[in-house]
Amino acid sequence: MKWISGYMSVLLVAALFAGLASAQSTITVSVGQPGAAIAKTMWGIFFEDINFGADGGIYAELVKNRSFEFDDPMMGWNWLLSADSDGMAAVVVKQPYEETNPRCLRMSASKGQPFGIRNEGFRGMGIKKGQSYWFSVYAKQVSPQPAMSLKIKVGSAMEGTIDNISGGWKNYTCKMEAKSTDSHANLEVFLGSFGSVDLDMVSLFPADTARMTDRPIPGLRKDLVDMLAAMKPGFLRFPGGCIVEGRTLSVRYQWKKTIGDINQRKTIINRWNTEFKHRLTPDYYQSFGLGFYEYFLLSEQVNAEPMPIINCGMACQFNTGETVAVEKLGPYVQDALDLIEFANGPADSKWGCIRAEMGHPEPFNMKLLGVGNEQWGPQYIERYKVFVKAIKEKYPDIVLIGATGSDPAIFPNGPKEVEYLWAELRKLKADIVDEHFYRPPDWFVQNADHYDDYDRNGPKLFVGEYAAISGSVANPDNQNNLGCALAEAAFMTGLERNADLVTMSSYAPLFAHVDAWQWKPDLIWFDNLSVYGTPNYYVQKLFSTKRGDVVLPVTLQGQDENLYVSACRSGKQIILKVVNPSGKAIASEIDLKGVKTVSYAGGTVLSGQPQDKNTIEEPAKIVPAKAAPFNVSSPKFTYRFKEYSMTVLELDVE
Ligand code: AHR
Repeated sequence: MKWISGYMSVLLVAALFAGLASAQSTITVSVGQPGAAIAKTMWGIFFEDINFGADGGIYAELVKNRSFEFDDPMMGWNWLLSADSDGMAAVVVKQPYEETNPRCLRMSASKGQPFGIRNEGFRGMGIKKGQSYWFSVYAKQVSPQPAMSLKIKVGSAMEGTIDNISGGWKNYTCKMEAKSTDSHANLEVFLGSFGSVDLDMVSLFPADTARMTDRPIPGLRKDLVDMLAAMKPGFLRFPGGCIVEGRTLSVRYQWKKTIGDINQRKTIINRWNTEFKHRLTPDYYQSFGLGFYEYFLLSEQVNAEPMPIINCGMACQFNTGETVAVEKLGPYVQDALDLIEFANGPADSKWGCIRAEMGHPEPFNMKLLGVGNEQWGPQYIERYKVFVKAIKEKYPDIVLIGATGSDPAIFPNGPKEVEYLWAELRKLKADIVDEHFYRPPDWFVQNADHYDDYDRNGPKLFVGEYAAISGSVANPDNQNNLGCALAEAAFMTGLERNADLVTMSSYAPLFAHVDAWQWKPDLIWFDNLSVYGTPNYYVQKLFSTKRGDVVLPVTLQGQDENLYVSACRSGKQIILKVVNPSGKAIASEIDLKGVKTVSYAGGTVLSGQPQDKNTIEEPAKIVPAKAAPFNVSSPKFTYRFKEYSMTVLELDVE
């Protein structure tokens, strides 16, 4: 016997099914007895700047280290010097000193051939033929008259000029159109005249970046945003992940430093830079061009509830576990309160005013807030309490999400810690509790019933990070293949059946650059020019776009133990999701109880071989396809579920 319905009603009876000649099992849907409503937030997105997800990824800036603020200020940059030039470039500290963006680059030449600098981009720059690009730079003339000029070259794809650079710091721009496509272009900036000039915020952006209906999102890569929008996500969790915590508190994520003028958002190291010895990424920093304001805009654009996570006074416990003394938590708690005002406050409040000045006078209407990421131990509970008290006092309607550490299988003393955290969070009447699972595919299949027996009187569940791991956690050989995707799908039928308890879930991590990842597996992969969804992405998308409003009780009877099923209703439509992770097609009788008439409205199948995966070269090897035409005229019919498949059947009923 496989899984027995706990709470939510899937029952497998290990007895021979003797009804239909060809059916090996019966799926019974109690259409007349709808269960819990499925939360809008049921299927969401987990965003973290890992694997070049933000800088080098969705944030469309093509210049790496544009403000010379990496620890090695010339990282990503090279001189272009010909034999007879006396040109030179040197990093100088601006006068007067600027706390958040202190350095710039001084370029000088007085004789000889052109002198310039080259930026290598984030593993090159993706340039597309026929598209326009904006070069922009802040420049200050250092040598006396005449005015200076710059020549811009992007591979052999395009060229431009900036003239009349004179006087103090000003922003100069030029628009160029690409004559050819280049997946790994470089940007070259030459002095067009002799003299000396200071440069800062040297930038190259595609002109056509993601836009909201009525206002631009500053510079997000359109193809990646489209992938997110296509999922119709219920929420967007940001900015992570361990990035919220930082290896030490000094490099934790501080949202206030990520809003306002982009030039003044202080660049800091990305915690994934040196995390994995086998995938060192020394050029990984956070420019915060994608900051909290942009995350809110992105949530709005993809119609997802914004769900920020804030640091709760603890650095990553896999690293230093540095903590702030409880009595010194004041500024951290204030950051949380101010964030709520930034998101929801009126335009004349202190932080609401900053939001309005950035271009969004209307509130973002944020309802959800995570307190800490993967935190554990009494240190967490002590700090969590302080946050909850302060936030609930001022904003009782904000729903807070508490942590239960990481996957209990991977952090010290995990199972005991999770038990302890659950007990504490239950006592504290937490709103929602976050659980993470990075487990082998078999675990996900065998745990399709994981939430069936959970306590219904405690907090709701956020399955905040999960992924089927074909090797071991963060192993570079891990695969985003169909086998893993189907295992997750089987598990997700269990989340859906338990929608009265599980109100949120998200796969993690979200993005990975094919040349710059640190962690595998990941939901969406991209290079400089293109993007593809993994089979795991299509599973997420199928669940999310076919979400339904209420759960319908479903039972499975039969001799075959290899089907995983959930059912829901959307208006007058029944949506049946059936996962067959086995290598054998299974014919099943479907019995829609309480239905008078039924007609087939459509079907979608994701199938292939377990090792199949998508790649940049073959991005659509495994994608959902329309099911073969099918006729349903009675509430009882037989359907054959392909081997290694997920099938979604849509049935119109009276
Ligand atoms: O998803 C990658 C990492 O896994 C997240 O940053 C962290 O929360 C978890 O340990």
